[in-house]
Amino acid sequence: MEIQHHFSLKNYNTFGIEAKARQFVAVHCVAELKTVLEQHQSEKKFILGGGSNMLLTQDIDALVIHIDLKGKKIIKEDDDSVWVEGQAGENWHEFVLWCIDQNYGGLENMSLIPGNVGTTPVQNIGAYGAEIKDTFVSCEAMNIETQEIKTFSNAECHFGYRESIFKHDVKDQYIITSVVFKLTKRNHKINTSYGDILAELERTNVTNPGLKDVSNAVIAIRKSKLPDPKELGNSGSFFKNPIVLKSDFEAIHKKFPEMKFYEVSATEVKVPAGWLIEQVGFKGKRFGDAGIHKNQALVLVNYGNATGQEILAVSKDIQKTVLETFGIKIEAEVNVI
Ligand code: EPU
Repeated sequence: MEIQHHFSLKNYNTFGIEAKARQFVAVHCVAELKTVLEQHQSEKKFILGGGSNMLLTQDIDALVIHIDLKGKKIIKEDDDSVWVEGQAGENWHEFVLWCIDQNYGGLENMSLIPGNVGTTPVQNIGAYGAEIKDTFVSCEAMNIETQEIKTFSNAECHFGYRESIFKHDVKDQYIITSVVFKLTKRNHKINTSYGDILAELERTNVTNPGLKDVSNAVIAIRKSKLPDPKELGNSGSFFKNPIVLKSDFEAIHKKFPEMKFYEVSATEVKVPAGWLIEQVGFKGKRFGDAGIHKNQALVLVNYGNATGQEILAVSKDIQKTVLETFGIKIEAEVNVI
């Protein structure tokens, strides 16, 4: 474990923003993590996973600890199900593909989401009708102060739409080191009901889809809409889809009858932020090296040398215009550092 100084984080954030860490260390096992935390008790620390959900707007004046714990194993199984544990630093998409190759079902709709296994619970990642909370059993996490390991059950994580306890009650207190998912070995619950999946399966003449077919369809849809961070810096959806009270929505919908929405509870609806942003004309716009993706208005992109501040300014401009036009507040989904 080597501590590096004034370390460039450009290759450690999918936005590809140039920012420096005062100190940087990568840890490869739980024991290394414990040692680093013990040895740097009083220092300011910043925990870095896959760097796929953050916007760096400044250098990080702290010890950046990059969680690079690798490994996956089966911890339990019966005739129908398997409990698979992934270490926090495993690349999420590779983990999903590995599960599909073993014929373990439950994660296929979340193929190609950027990031690592250990950060999936933090914002309860989801796509195409599936969320982590549907298969998540528990995760282990190290307390940054005491280095004790605590197991968080599904219920203890307080999962919500892109939400969990790790963004609220225990924010900045724990480092997730591994996650356990309960997956199906047979009678897979194939979910093709969301959006374009069925159309994509039809296009490719798949009539009785298996796990791999669903995964391939999701990969094709994502590739057509979402930019590959290796080619164009981005952090996936920059904003969350806003949840609006039905009582407020009625008046908004009267004014904008073409506005799309999904019912989320008896009293609330979710409005697609991508639609709102497209309507106010930002889709595909470019301001210097910062821009809004041409195929998905929820995604902000770095054309090369944008600074975090420039991308943040574009995001604020979008928020202001959407609020002025529709009276709806959209919030960032990515962590602005
Ligand atoms: N829409 C537009 N214009 C756009 C984008 C979307 O009008 O530029 C409309 C679409 O026509 C559609 C609706 O908005 O009717 C929803 O669009 P889409 O199905 O693409 O999904 P989303 O709500 O924009 C969410 C997730 C994505 C996830 C997709 C698919 C959030 C914040 N984002 O996007 O997650 O891949 O659903 O399930 O919930 C991510 O979090 O990084 C991410 C990419």
